[in-house]
Amino acid sequence: MVADLNEAGAEAAASAIGHGALALPLDVTRQDSIDAMVAAVAAQCGRLDILVNNAGIFDMAPIAEITRESYRRVYAVNVEGLLFTLQAGARQMIAQGHGGRIINFASQAGRRGEALVAVYCSSKAAVISLTQSAGLDLIKHGINVNAIAPGVVDNEHWDDVDARFARYEGLQPGEKKRAVGAAVPFGRMARPDEIAGLAVFLAGPDANYIVAQTYNIDGGNWMS
Ligand SMILES: NC(=O)c1ccc[n+]([C@@H]2O[C@H](COP(=O)([O-])OP(=O)(O)OC[C@H]3O[C@@H](n4cnc5c(N)ncnc54)[C@H](O)[C@@H]3O)[C@@H](O)[C@H]2O)c1
Repeated sequence: MVADLNEAGAEAAASAIGHGALALPLDVTRQDSIDAMVAAVAAQCGRLDILVNNAGIFDMAPIAEITRESYRRVYAVNVEGLLFTLQAGARQMIAQGHGGRIINFASQAGRRGEALVAVYCSSKAAVISLTQSAGLDLIKHGINVNAIAPGVVDNEHWDDVDARFARYEGLQPGEKKRAVGAAVPFGRMARPDEIAGLAVFLAGPDANYIVAQTYNIDGGNWMS
């Protein structure tokens, strides 16, 4: 099941995956939407075994210019949305009684603050902390909770980030993205498919003994 606020994007992703993949509407800022998503998965697939908490949004501003509206919007998706989607998934898995896997998307931004990115960085630090607490609480139900902290991934998200940096740092479009990619020890940004394999591993049998961890996958940007 591919569940996203962007229903057309979810449909396109599900049809690209094939093999019976289906799309569902989901707004992680609304409890009724989260509950409907979990109920739809249980009804259509029989059970929910693996939940990937991928939804995330970005914003940036110097500390002096951060607004409550920006803070609330980012935290509503990245922290509150992730926590209550995780909770709904965990409740379903506990009721099923067969354990499960929950994989959260953190970020290298959660490992270290950045001058212009306080709200997003702190929201991703919260994801790392929630992964630890939920991992410790839910393993008694056989539910492994872990997280992935990508570095910089070349996709639409980074086009948006590039445009925002251009505004604050007086750069040309594409300049920040090129500089950030060149600064990665690997020599470039990641492709999305270079991140997905870790989620597959964490969802599989070889990750049985992995609990409450956040794994960096960032071409060598960060070590922890
Ligand atoms: N691209 C990067 O460089 C990068 C780096 C580190 C971490 N991440 C994280 O990885 C995850 C995926 O990011 P991405 O780069 O694929 O970005 P993306 O913008 O392509 O994907 C994020 C998805 O979240 C969905 N979404 C937003 N608000 C939602 C809501 N309220 N309910 C349901 N879905 C919602 C969007 O529609 C979008 O499909 C995010 O959590 C992001 O913070 C990305």
